[in-house]
Amino acid sequence: MRTMRALTQHTFGGPEVLAVEDVPVPRPLPTEVLLRVRAIGLNPLEARLRAGEFPLLGQPPFILGWDVSGVVEEAVTWRFRPGDEVFGMPLFPRAAHTYAEYVAAPALHLVRKPASLPHVEAAALATVGLTAWHGLVDLAGVGEGDRVLIHAGGGGVGHVAIQIAKALGAYVLTTAAAGKRTFVESLGADEVIDYASTDFAQACRAVDVVLDTLGGETAARSLDVLRPGGHLVTAVADEDTELAARYEAAGRRFSGIAVDPDPVALRGLVALVERGALRVHVAQTYPFARVADAHRRLDSGHLTGKLALTL
Ligand SMILES: NC(=O)c1ccc[n+]([C@@H]2O[C@H](COP(=O)([O-])OP(=O)(O)OC[C@H]3O[C@@H](n4cnc5c(N)ncnc54)[C@H](OP(=O)(O)O)[C@@H]3O)[C@@H](O)[C@H]2O)c1
Repeated sequence: MRTMRALTQHTFGGPEVLAVEDVPVPRPLPTEVLLRVRAIGLNPLEARLRAGEFPLLGQPPFILGWDVSGVVEEAVTWRFRPGDEVFGMPLFPRAAHTYAEYVAAPALHLVRKPASLPHVEAAALATVGLTAWHGLVDLAGVGEGDRVLIHAGGGGVGHVAIQIAKALGAYVLTTAAAGKRTFVESLGADEVIDYASTDFAQACRAVDVVLDTLGGETAARSLDVLRPGGHLVTAVADEDTELAARYEAAGRRFSGIAVDPDPVALRGLVALVERGALRVHVAQTYPFARVADAHRRLDSGHLTGKLALTL
């Protein structure tokens, strides 16, 4: 039996529970590809799953991971051929086990990686790019001249969302820590609100769309900045029916984002990358076997852009 290295965990816990183990290489089914993994993007959700704070994958043992970029080794599909370079966020929210040397995934959940986009950046783009695309394009339908407030513009979702909103022709306001001002301005933000010194709800008005990745007070108080008919799209407060009702009662719209592996959205992101309108900031990469260090960094928060593992 052919084996590969994978990052398996047998108990919930801190970053040290992630261990390199030999496991069987998965077999692709018809419609799927076997991917030789070159890079893996990390997301805050994975730290919560590792620690047992969120029940999505059930009890360990399991292999984490969704964001992946790599080379097709075996194609049981007409969509790709061996040697094709592809990326995506396959199977989410079901387990995809991308913290591994090989991944079997539906071809439909992957798209061709542009040659100009390194594997590390492609892997880092998938989840955050899809989330921002669903919020700004699919749900809010942001268009030319819209005033869009992106919360946490320096984070994974936020930094990509700023660029997508700008590419759609929006005027972009964003909340970020003072140390991230230069970063978010370099991505095209028109107005930056330092959330530590300024109350965003006082600092902006007549906003058409708010993209929220913080929830809590931020999601609640964003109601005050929206124009009548304006739209909150939230990646974190999506199940807050009481808050949704308050938005609706006030004549504002409220939508929850549940990211999925939509290949149409992935191709939209690729088109932006190819025309130079979207880049992914990978703050730090870690070799595969140093995953515990990467998760320690994930746990400590305050990220600028993304983290990734390389193989
Ligand atoms: N529903 C879905 O389908 C979906 C999909 C993707 C992500 N998510 C969720 O969305 C959230 C964000 O994900 P992410 O990948 O963007 O996380 P991330 O990369 O960790 O970014 C979070 C950012 O928020 C900033 N921040 C913290 N407090 C802030 C405040 N009060 N105002 C403005 N910025 C603040 C942080 O920087 P500083 O602390 O330095 O300011 C950091 O840059 C996570 O909870 C994730 O699980 C949901």
